[in-house]
Amino acid sequence: MNPLNHVAIIMDGNGRWGLKNKESRNEGHKAGLKTVEKVIKETINQKIKYLTLFAFSTENWNRPKKEINYLFNLLESYLSNKIESFNKKNIKLNIIGTKNFSKKLNKLLNLSEKKTAHNTILQINLALNYGSKFEIINAIKKINKNNDKINEKNLSKYLETKNIPDPELLIRTGNTKRLSNFLLWQLAYAEIFFEKKLWPDFNEKDYVKIIKKFKKIKRNFGKI
Ligand code: FPP
Repeated sequence: MNPLNHVAIIMDGNGRWGLKNKESRNEGHKAGLKTVEKVIKETINQKIKYLTLFAFSTENWNRPKKEINYLFNLLESYLSNKIESFNKKNIKLNIIGTKNFSKKLNKLLNLSEKKTAHNTILQINLALNYGSKFEIINAIKKINKNNDKINEKNLSKYLETKNIPDPELLIRTGNTKRLSNFLLWQLAYAEIFFEKKLWPDFNEKDYVKIIKKFKKIKRNFGKI
């Protein structure tokens, strides 16, 4: 059985779900949040230590302002309500990506990270304003600035995911098969599962089914 310490998820399909079921993309994001809750709970059940969720990409800024505002308001109210319960459940929140949001949201994100920093049962890495190419370029710039040698170890050290093991498993919902500039370096050897269901329809059973399949895969890492 393969060990599983880190699951990364591209939560795709909220907009389509919302349009289909509620005639509103934003309703899809709201419904998507319920799936986030289900997946966090199951990740703890499965004793997986790291969960990285792609919540907002650097490319998502090209969406209509109304949708962007809705997403950030959703995030703001979710975090304000949830952070105590994260603490009770021993969950650590870590943001990856560039925090250049409103002053209020930046403050809330920093506070949420600080308040949960010592928790140990699960680390959630929330990717916000995150883009993998930007992250890699930044890491190279930092290597240069510090006159470090360019090698795998040093590059990993300057990524936003420093000190976090690479994900062994990537799940993308929404019936689309691409990586969308997500963790390109870190996913080098991940097993990738593309799920047809839209994110709000994805549930614990689907998640457990994927984990079971993952555990049985023969992982070669280039060997035979
Ligand atoms: C992708 O679906 C989803 C997003 C860009 C946002 C993800 C946000 C959530 C799951 C809810 C908020 C999460 C937190 C943690 C507060 P899409 O809109 O690209 O869907 P589409 O492909 O159908 O258009």
